[in-house]
Amino acid sequence: MTKAAVRAHTNIALIKYWGKADETLFLPMNSSLSLTLDGLYTDTFVEISDTFTEDQFYLNDVLQSPEETAKISRFLDLFRNKAGITHFIQVKSINHVPTAAGLASSASAFAALAGAMNRATGLNMDLETLSTYARRGSGSATRSLFGGFVEWQKGTSSEDSMAVPVDDASWDIGMVIIAVNKSAKKISSRIGMKQTVETSPFYPAWVASAEEDLLAIKKAIKARDFEKVGQITEHSAMKMHGSMLGAETPIIYFEPDSIKAIHAVRALREQGILCYVTMDAGPNVKVLCRLSEAGKIKEMLREYFSEEQLLISGPGQGIRPLTAQE
Ligand code: PMV
Repeated sequence: MTKAAVRAHTNIALIKYWGKADETLFLPMNSSLSLTLDGLYTDTFVEISDTFTEDQFYLNDVLQSPEETAKISRFLDLFRNKAGITHFIQVKSINHVPTAAGLASSASAFAALAGAMNRATGLNMDLETLSTYARRGSGSATRSLFGGFVEWQKGTSSEDSMAVPVDDASWDIGMVIIAVNKSAKKISSRIGMKQTVETSPFYPAWVASAEEDLLAIKKAIKARDFEKVGQITEHSAMKMHGSMLGAETPIIYFEPDSIKAIHAVRALREQGILCYVTMDAGPNVKVLCRLSEAGKIKEMLREYFSEEQLLISGPGQGIRPLTAQE
């Protein structure tokens, strides 16, 4: 097959990945665990042809610069080398991430591209093996190959640092995303991680506690103990940001509205509504909640945020090929 089209959904980590043990291979310092989301995804179409004279990369129908394309070409090389192909490739990606969500789309983007290349080259690797390829595009993409709750096992080498499915999340769980600020993040996750690993005295404590949290959250997921899952999630995010505050110079992704959101969620909890915050390498806040209560939580958050800043998502599925109509 020389053409393929695949959809991948984004994911939000409940136990965060923060820090690389190997920057070239994207090997993480700690294992992580995420929830794949249904509302946010990328569709990617690839075509391999001997008529192309260079790689081409279109994002949302716009041809990308040589610099952006070079990044994609390096990723495509992993598949070309494995499949013994030398042809150029055309990549067309459409991000279905509402612009107001203010979320980075690298997880769904590289998972979709890995999925499409896997089919187009005929390599047909299983998803766990394919996740070791997605990882080389962006660490968080490793987890987007699967739906529901997914663990990225840090492994010991490039071959075994992979994602495994944990639970299909077919229970009452979801997220309300609060888009505090949708402009691009000021410090990339790559730079933020490097600075934290190299300079924060809190970093070793982060790694140790992430491993403990991972065991605890897997137990809570198995027991479908939503409250425990939420508590561990919020604590993990705050510990990750704590490790960043210890970096020299401190890395601060919080903005005033992020803090406002955190306090609003605490106030909801005091009223007996179980919901918990998590934050990544940016100011936006994601609220883990029971999906059946997401509408009510969104309404309550409207006191502080506009309608277009709030987005509800349930659990999403893993990558899948697109049909001709899609
Ligand atoms: O792999 P990246 O560059 O998308 O980094 C992800 C870092 C966090 O979002 C902060 C945590 C995570 O595990 O997704």
